[in-house]
Order: sequence, then C-alpha cells, then structure tokens
Amino acid sequence: MAKGLRGRSAILCTSSPEETIQLGQFIGEILKPGSVIGLCGELGTGKTHLIKGLAMGLGVDHRYYVTSPSFTIINEYPGRIPLNHIDLYRLEEMDQTEELGYEEYFYGDGVTAIEWAEKILPFLPEDRLMVEIAHLGENRRKFRIRGFGRPYWDIARKIDRWKAD
Ligand SMILES: Nc1ncnc2c1ncn2[C@@H]1O[C@H](COP(=O)(O)OP(=O)(O)OP(=O)(O)O)[C@@H](O)[C@H]1O
Ligand SMILES: [Mg+2]
Repeated sequence: MAKGLRGRSAILCTSSPEETIQLGQFIGEILKPGSVIGLCGELGTGKTHLIKGLAMGLGVDHRYYVTSPSFTIINEYPGRIPLNHIDLYRLEEMDQTEELGYEEYFYGDGVTAIEWAEKILPFLPEDRLMVEIAHLGENRRKFRIRGFGRPYWDIARKIDRWKAD
C-alpha cells in the first residue's frame, strides 16, 4: 500500500452472510448524516447484505426488510439517520443518472448506499466511502474499504479496527 494511503483503507474478510450484516451494522453506527457509500462487486457478493446491516446500524426499523429494489432504483428508509438505497444493476446508460437526480440524495441528510457504484463513478461526490467486495469461497467474502476525503479516512480507520478492540 502506498505510504500516503495508510490509515485510509481497510481490508476485511467475512465468513458468513450474518458476519457481513454485522460489518454493515458497525459501519452504519459510525457513519454521519449525509454520508455516501459506494459498493462494487460481482452478482451475489453481498452488497445487499452489507446494506441490510447498514440499515440496522442507522436505526432503520427492523420491520423494513431491505431487499434489492427490482422495479424501483431507489428505496428510502426512515431511521435515526434515513437510508437511501440505490441499486444501479439495471442502469444501462450513464446519462440516465442526470434524470434520476442523485444529487438530492448525495447532499441530503440521509446516508446513501449505492450498489454497482462503478456505473456512475464520475457522478459520485469526491468525498465518499468505497467498498469493493470479492468472492473468496462459498461463504467467504473480502472487503476492501477505502475512504476518500478526510472525514472518510477516519471512518476507514475505525472499520480497519473492527473486532480488534
Ligand atoms: N460472507 C458472506 N457475506 C455475504 N453474503 C454471503 C456470504 N457468504 C455467502 N453469502 C451469500 O451470497 C449472497 C449475497 O447476496 P446479496 O444479495 O447480498 O449480493 P449482492 O452483491 O447484493 O448481489 P446483486 O449483485 O445480485 O445485487 C447471498 O445468497 C448470501 O447468502
Ligand atoms: Mg444486491
């Protein structure tokens, strides 16, 4: 890792869907209102599971069942901090994004989590948390979590210490 990046990224593995939800919950507990978190990773790597945990950490009522929105692209959940869940799987062309008005979410008071964030990379705020998930085995997943912008370095550093304290 480049010297200047030390402390701004975390690499973690989970061994079950439940553990990924726990990681998401931990992240949800330390995120501030207005945070943006982009998730990248192939089909079925666990993006939605991480966001389920995020919802728990943000205090979204457990009666809301967080799923990948199949017909809508954005789901909004009320909580201690509201969660906006954007799933871009079906997004084909990047210029559709302007019509969707994402800025309203990115610069609002909720936390916005975006699945397939790589599809709108140039439209994302510079300051954000990026999560790349890789499939290591049937139940093992690797998470590379990077903070962009000073407030997110702090978040990445805390995530790096997950289970270490
Ligand atoms: N360690 C793990 N973390 C998360 N999910 C896991 C893990 N091990 C196995 N799984 C399984 O992988 C799948 C992850 O599904 P999930 O919907 O969260 O993925 P996704 O990345 O959102 O997929 P999609 O690209 O279709 O939206 C689930 O079937 C889950 O049970
Ligand atoms: Mg999903």
